[in-house]
Amino acid sequence: MHIRGEISPPGDKSISHRAFMFGALARGTTTIKSALESLDVKSTREAMQALGADIRRDGDLWLVRGGTLKEPQTVIDAGNSGTTARLLCGILAGIHGVSCITGDASLVRRPMARVIQPLATMGACFMARQDRYLPMAVKGGRLAGLTYRMDVASAQVKSAVLLAGLNAEGATEVIEPLKSRDHTERMLRFFGIELVEDGNRIRIHGGQHLQARPVEVPGDPSSAAFPAVLAAATPGSDLLIKGICLNPTRIAFLDVLKRMGADIEFNNYRETAGETVGDIRVQGTHLTGTTIQGAEIPSLIDELPILAIAAACAEGRTIIRDARELRVKEADRIKAIVNGFAALGADVEELDDGMIIDGPLPLRAGRIQTASDHRIAMSFAVLGKVLSLDIHLDDTACVDISYPGFFKDLAGLAP
Ligand code: S3P
Repeated sequence: MHIRGEISPPGDKSISHRAFMFGALARGTTTIKSALESLDVKSTREAMQALGADIRRDGDLWLVRGGTLKEPQTVIDAGNSGTTARLLCGILAGIHGVSCITGDASLVRRPMARVIQPLATMGACFMARQDRYLPMAVKGGRLAGLTYRMDVASAQVKSAVLLAGLNAEGATEVIEPLKSRDHTERMLRFFGIELVEDGNRIRIHGGQHLQARPVEVPGDPSSAAFPAVLAAATPGSDLLIKGICLNPTRIAFLDVLKRMGADIEFNNYRETAGETVGDIRVQGTHLTGTTIQGAEIPSLIDELPILAIAAACAEGRTIIRDARELRVKEADRIKAIVNGFAALGADVEELDDGMIIDGPLPLRAGRIQTASDHRIAMSFAVLGKVLSLDIHLDDTACVDISYPGFFKDLAGLAP
């Protein structure tokens, strides 16, 4: 089997969340084109509506009329979406009144202290289950600027503090240990906000107002990673992936695939809403193992499950470390991957912060427990195609969190 042809992945999830949130905060009407139509983004859209934003569809556009958000009358359900819950905390911290947030069975187990702590220092009040989990109530109001040195590289925490900083007295500064995705910084600038960046420090002054803008959402590199690995790990393949966001804080997985031997070309660069977009051409080969660690981890954190699949098909050892954050994603992704390989008959060494994969793994058909995690489901679905193995997933509906249409696209590439 060779993977040939072209594919345009759906809109970027991180950028879609921010487009609806920033549109809701902005004065005027923001138009959003090519937004991701997925369950996570729906959670954000409904949250912004609960805060009073007028959000409507107009043909292939979303129209968001924002300006003054207010205390919601209902509990906000962030569903499965960590980005919705955490960025929302930053917005709610600046809204007078009390708001309640909850989430699904996965989200209520994910750490929230990382946002509660800085936002409480700025002056917001939180009442959370066990002081650190959803459901929780946020009482927002007057905030004071803060200099905050983050201990995890998290774009969600950085964004929450910057959004609160917009409503705070004076300056707010965030210092990241390693650079994480910078869509918030780029899109805030696009909406007219002044930010000062100096290495991993970002400073924002309170009292600035967003101005509505037309946003075109580029394709999601994290979704593109699935067909990219399918092609990269299938010798003789030649796949064109069109219109994806080529923000450097998102595409370190392409560097990894190149190190593993895949041939990747970039073409057709253009700019949209402060982001670089382009096409990539992926040519497949017999991949070799590599080490993935350190500063590149935040820029490929969501792609580690599918890179583990590439490693399983590659010749030699792949070491993944410094990725403890994987344990607090939609599922414990280190466990889900290691258990997934075990269910297919192969041993992979589990590390506290990663794993060691000696490829090619001797795999057979089997059943995968996805833990209802969209990226685990899509990763093992790709593995089944690369190795022509009958891999049964216990949950396929979860792909709708980030990539509705995934199975159709996959079948189009690898019947
Ligand atoms: C995201 C940030 C990352 C990423 C998540 C989306 C964002 O999470 O894993 O899928 O849109 O800001 P962290 O902030 O927890 O690293």
